[in-house]
Formats: sequence, structure tokens, C-alpha cells
Amino acid sequence: PRPLRILGIDTSCDDTGVGIVELADGRVTVLANRVWSQAVHAQYGGVMPELASREHVERIDQIMEGALHEAGLSVTDIGAVAATSGPGLVGALLVGLMYGKGLAQALNVPFHAAHHLEGHIFAAASEAELRAPFLALVVSGGHTHLFDVPRDGEYVLVGATRDDAAGEAFDKVARLAGLGYPGGPAISEAATRGDPNAVPFKEPLKGQSGFDFSFSGLKTAALLAHRAGATAENLAASFQRAAVQTLVNTTVRAATATGRGTVVVSGGVAANRALRDAFATTGLHVVFPGRGLNTDNGAMIALAGAAAIQAGRSASALDGGATAYAP
Ligand code: KG4
Ligand code: ZN
Repeated sequence: PRPLRILGIDTSCDDTGVGIVELADGRVTVLANRVWSQAVHAQYGGVMPELASREHVERIDQIMEGALHEAGLSVTDIGAVAATSGPGLVGALLVGLMYGKGLAQALNVPFHAAHHLEGHIFAAASEAELRAPFLALVVSGGHTHLFDVPRDGEYVLVGATRDDAAGEAFDKVARLAGLGYPGGPAISEAATRGDPNAVPFKEPLKGQSGFDFSFSGLKTAALLAHRAGATAENLAASFQRAAVQTLVNTTVRAATATGRGTVVVSGGVAANRALRDAFATTGLHVVFPGRGLNTDNGAMIALAGAAAIQAGRSASALDGGATAYAP
């Protein structure tokens, strides 16, 4: 059979992402991944939804052209389209969703409405074939979700954060330590020069029987240590170790409880070196997304589309939908 080229679009927040993957003989390859990160929001200290939608409208043609160029393809080579239908900012989502549906309709090819977290999980399909059953930990600035995937296309939420997302905690601790934004990379860098034993942190939700996460206690402890004179480097090293430990320990307990041997770890925080090193010592088969696929992008949505198509779960442009997932 001819290789199938799938174009994926993500406009759920403040990144305009278009990626292209190729599905041939049951194997997927990322051919292109273009992301336009909107800088306009920095001056407001947070994402302005209306501005995000407008930037997506203004940029999406150019980003798609860039992705086709990177893949060496023309638009008529695209055999399927996937776009994020939620969750996210509704105006922003609609830009990519309607663009993708229009494209699929015009090309008369199948369409897949992807859940944003399904995209984050399938970002790891760039590195290894992802077949259920497996566990998936999605750790980003907005999410800390642990899913069991007992069968292809079925996601059972087994744990989530009760307060801050993991990346949000990295960002807040970095800010109070004066390490700048985004906090994750800044903490990771400063931690290489600090002592992870300098500041004692209590393990969050110690003794729980479930698989939830909590970062507000670590954040408060970091604030108190900062006031008591802990250096930014020691704070970074100690906080990072505590955050990594709670993520890894909870995930390992969930893997034992569900009997899963494979774990996907994805989202912005999955780029963290200490987290990757800690997971490597667990004895589990741990799969991380390839380079450039941890943070929001279109290729991960194309990879989710490829998985849906392989499982016979794609639809047409007119019935794959905006209402498929509540934002
Ligand atoms: O997935 P993402 O790009 O955006 C969403 O939130 O959807 O994740 C961004 C988050 C930020 O909080 C950032 O600080 C964190 O991922 N991050 C990291 C690292 N790189 C990015 N956290 C820890 N270590 C890193 N190396
Ligand atoms: Zn995301």
C-alpha cells in the first residue's frame, strides 16, 4: 500500500502547531513539525485568549506551508487530517479545528478530532510503537494526569494533581528563586550547581492509597526555605529532587497496581533530565517523546491521528467534531 501522510494541527493555546507524519507498513515517521510560539502574551504575564485566536488566524497558512515545505510535499499528498478539538481555549481551538476540517473536506480525506492529551501521549509514538496496555503520565504547565490505557483508544484517569500542575510548580518555584521563565529549564540548569539535600521537603500525599499528585506543599516549603536564606541553586536542586520523586514513585505504584510494564511520560516537564534519569532506574519500559515533541505541537496530533486510523477510528470532516470533547 502507498504511504499515508497525515497532517496534524494544534491551536489549543498559544502555539500554532502543524506537523506531518507518514504511516507506511504499520510504522510512523515524523516528516515535519512547525510551531509558531506567540510572543504577544509576554507583556501581559499570561495568555490573552482573543489575541491567541487572532494570531492563529494570521499564522496558520504560513505554518502549514512551512510544514509541507519541510516534508517536501504538496498539499494534495496529504491523505488524512487531524486537529485538536479540546480541551483548550475555545476560540483558539476553533481556528485549527475548522481549518483542519475544511482541509479534509476539500481534499476529500478522513479527519480525526483529537483530544489534546491524546496528542501529548502519542508524541511518544515517534520513538516506539505504542500498543495498549500501557500507563501514560502527562506532565506539562497545565496538566498532571496519569492514565491507564487498557485497550487502544481507551483512557482511564487513575490520578491527577489536586492543586498545581507539575510544570506550574517548577515555574512558581523558579520565579520565587529569581531564576526566570520558563521555570523548568531554569530550575534544571541551576540544580546542577546545587545540593539536593540542602532543603528538606516532605513527600506530598504520603501514605495515600490512590495515585494523585500535589505540588502546593512543595511550593510553600520552597517559599519558607527561600525566606530562611536558601540559595537559588540549593532550592532548585532540592525542589527538583522532591518533584521528580513524587512523580516517579506515584507512577511506579500505579504501574504495579495495574500490572503495566510500559509507561509513556510526556508534556513539557518530560524534557527534564533528572526526571528521565530517575525513570530510567525503575525497571519499567519508559518511553519519552522525541526531540521537539514534548511541548505543544502539531506532529503529536498527527501521531494521535495515525493511531486512530490504524485502529479504524477516524471519521469524515463533517462528523468528527467540535462537540466530541468538552473544553
Ligand atoms: O507542554 P507544555 O509546553 O505546555 C503546556 O503546559 O501545555 O509545558 C510547559 C511546562 C512549563 O511549565 C515548563 O516550565 C515545563 O513545561 N518545562 C520543564 C522543563 N522544560 C519545560 N519542567 C521541568 N524541566 C524541564 N527541563
Ligand atoms: Zn499541552
